[in-house]
Parts: sequence; structure tokens; C-alpha cells
Amino acid sequence: MLGHDKVSFLHLPTPLEYLPGISQDLGVEFYIKRDDLTNLGVGGNKLRKLEYLLKDAQDQGATMLLTLGGAQTNHGRLTAAVAAKYGMKCAIVCVDDYPGELSANLLLDRLMGAEVVLKKDDGRPESVQFAETAAAVKARYEAQGEKVYEIPIGGSNDIGILGYFECAQELTAQAKEMGISDAAVYAAVGSIGTYMGLFCGLRESRSPLGLVGVAISPFLDAKEKRIVEYFNSVKQTFGLTCDAVREDFRIEKDYTRGAYNNPCKEVRDAVRYMARREAVILDPCYTGKAFAGILDMVREGKIQKGSKIIFLHTGGLPGIYTRHHRVEFEKELIDGVTILD
Ligand SMILES: Cc1ncc(COP(=O)(O)O)c(C=O)c1O
Repeated sequence: MLGHDKVSFLHLPTPLEYLPGISQDLGVEFYIKRDDLTNLGVGGNKLRKLEYLLKDAQDQGATMLLTLGGAQTNHGRLTAAVAAKYGMKCAIVCVDDYPGELSANLLLDRLMGAEVVLKKDDGRPESVQFAETAAAVKARYEAQGEKVYEIPIGGSNDIGILGYFECAQELTAQAKEMGISDAAVYAAVGSIGTYMGLFCGLRESRSPLGLVGVAISPFLDAKEKRIVEYFNSVKQTFGLTCDAVREDFRIEKDYTRGAYNNPCKEVRDAVRYMARREAVILDPCYTGKAFAGILDMVREGKIQKGSKIIFLHTGGLPGIYTRHHRVEFEKELIDGVTILD
């Protein structure tokens, strides 16, 4: 893609499925793109990015992948998966507290052999703490003879957009085949790489599909600045012919529920609704929050009846097992557990 090769470890294309129950309830045509079904380490969007990042790492002779994130980073888990599969070492550096138990992504990271380094937040800018801690971990492994390839948070650098640039083409072809080329793709937005890949892929190929990003954490000035700079950097790196200004990026910012990965009832309701209606499991941090936003947009009339929606399921399943979400789900669901003496 765009002159870059990848290590092809995914079974693509992922399915694009029609969800009849949700479509009927909402009065829209609701489709779901199952990137949660990507095939390593429980799946998720980061694997498409990692196909390209791994190739770059191999080309540089790396023996180890090092990445950054929160203690429950899905991207870290999938970096660990790729490292395990390709016989590389892996370290995940987090500026975070130990969540009190080895569960969810953290458990899977360790199962797949990654070292997780948790640096307690000391109040200085997070970027400084990440840089210092990552440099120390890198130096430690280099002293053991490893060649370390660093991947930024969420895999969201220029190379990291290639996977979703490719996915945009995949989606355009699938939508055409299914007669839904006038649909809009809805995707959760975190570190912006997934959105940027889709945006550039759709725009560069003049795809008829629309694109809406749903921010899952407050989209503040730094992200406003980042999204434009990111596009310009990608355009320059890959010689894209398309142009864009801030107004071209449609990011819905009103559905973040105030913070990143916070437990909230509307999101749990949306996760439960999707599970009971379509047997598709969303996660409480990204996809559940984005889906709760879509439900609000339908209620508010921002998404009109009869619209065609393609919801990108970006994975994140292990998040449901993190303690702070699990205890809230338990309070709401325990009534359906019958205990017989
Ligand atoms: C499950 C899931 N969905 C969506 C996203 C958002 O993707 P991006 O960081 O590329 O914006 C992430 C990122 O961590 C994720 O883990």
C-alpha cells in the first residue's frame, strides 16, 4: 500500500454484516465491519496497523517491539501478540498504576510473553514520563543485545495509517458489492490513526462512502491540532494527491461521556443491547461508547431514519473484564443468576 509492503498475517477481508434487529429498532440500515474478528491475540483494529509496522521493524533488523499505552492498552496486547507470533521480544511501557489484579489485557500481555512496565504517574507531563521510561527500558534490552523497534501510542504514526488506508479500499469494494455505497462509516477515535487511515484511503480513492469519527475521550485543543498535522504529515510522507482542512474531518465530540475509559451506564446499556439483540460483544472503552453515541445521534435525529451506517467494530473485548467495568456490569446483571442450594 502506497509503496510499502506488509507482513500479511490477517485473513482479510473481514466480514461486513447486516444487523437486522438493530436496523429494525433504529429505522436505519445498520451494518457492522467485523475487525474484531481479526485473528491474532483476540483481535482488534491495531493488527491492521501492525502488519505494516512489523514489516518496517523487520526491515530495520529489529528483534524486539516496544510500545506505550495505559495499563489496559489494546494496542499493547496486540503488539505482544505479533511479537509472540514472529519470535520477537516485547515490552509495553505504561504511565499507570497497577490496577490491583492481573486481568483483561494485562493478563493477556503476560500470557503472550510481553514485559509490562508500569510507571506511577508523578504529575509531570505524560509525554516526558513515557519518553524517560521507554528510553530506560530500551537501554536495558539493548545492553542484552536486542535491537528495539519503538511503536508510538496506538500505533498512530505515518506507517500506522496504512492498514486502515487499505481497509478503506476493502470497505469501498464490499459496500459496492452489497449495494450500500451511500453509507457512512462510523469509527471510535482514540489516537486517531484508524480514522486517519480511513479518511485518507476513502478520500484518495474518491470513495462514495462517508466517514464519521466518534471521539471516546475529550477532543481538546491538542487533538484538534494533531489531526491537521497528522494529515499533512501523512500527505507528505506518502505523496497523497488529496487535500484536507480541519472542517473536512468529521469528528463527533459530544459523546465522550467526560473521560477516557470511565464506567458509565449509557455505555453499559448500549453494550448489553448489542449483546442481546445481535450477539455481538462491544467493549466499554471504545466500541461501546461509540455505539452509545450512535444511539444518541439516532434519537436526536442527527442520524436520519433510513440512513445506511457501517459501524467499524475495532475490537477491545478484553476491556469488559477490567475490574472497574466488571463490577458495574455485575451489579446490573447478577439478578439473572439463580443460585440453587
Ligand atoms: C478497541 C479500540 N477501538 C478503537 C480504538 C481507536 O483507534 P485509534 O487509536 O487508531 O484512534 C482503539 C485504540 O486503542 C481500540 O483499542
